[in-house]
Amino acid sequence: MYFLFSFSGHPSSAKATTRRLPIVFKNNINAIHLNLLMLLERKIILGTENDHRIVLEKYACELSVNKLYESRSELQKHIESNGNGSLTWGYFPEIKDQNQYPKCRILEEELSELLLSKINKNFSLAFIRLSVGKPASDYGGLHIDVDIGVGHTRTTPYEIVRLIANIGDAPRTIEYIDIDSDDLKNMEVEISRDKYAIITPPKSIKIKKLEIPPREKDAIWILRFWSSLIPHAGITNEDGHFVAAYGMYSSGEDCKI
Ligand SMILES: [Fe+2]
Repeated sequence: MYFLFSFSGHPSSAKATTRRLPIVFKNNINAIHLNLLMLLERKIILGTENDHRIVLEKYACELSVNKLYESRSELQKHIESNGNGSLTWGYFPEIKDQNQYPKCRILEEELSELLLSKINKNFSLAFIRLSVGKPASDYGGLHIDVDIGVGHTRTTPYEIVRLIANIGDAPRTIEYIDIDSDDLKNMEVEISRDKYAIITPPKSIKIKKLEIPPREKDAIWILRFWSSLIPHAGITNEDGHFVAAYGMYSSGEDCKI
């Protein structure tokens, strides 16, 4: 079940709201203490103080090492038994038989309880994905998301906010360009708002890179961005990756990321 907000256009046109930080509950000293501790660091990668497009956040969160290990092993077994040389496998709650992924589902619950509940419960898990090396075709290409999960067709007019939690031991690299889909359209770059498609920007546009740092013993780094507006692509090298990704439909008002 996804929570939808009224949407009145481009998020940058949404009226200014209070900066979104973990909710501080009144009259509850413990909750205040926990919530203030929760967000440890926040960097605006793209945007301004009033118009955030990509932010990198570090949250205090001590995930169970056993649960991480078991879900990782579960996905690795699928990679090994698949036998087609693929180095990547994922648990996609909306399209795969969930009974095949008991350990990933346990990790999903843990992430939901320890992390998502403090950020925004309206995010839905899109996937938990493991890659154990550099894939044969290592570049999916720049794209904008059209679905909060992994669907390739847009079904709502809302914009999409994506969270990528790096639960692995290696940095996760993301490429992006700092020109949003509306401006690219104005530059006559072929781009679809309705169907997933690779975007080929003109050579004059610089492709930028960022890294989501690996999991720390008691903290997780999360990238939060407008994935339906910012062309982006994940880059996997020899170190592979282990990430959990979430999506949420939103207007600019609820989640000035
Ligand atoms: Fe994407």
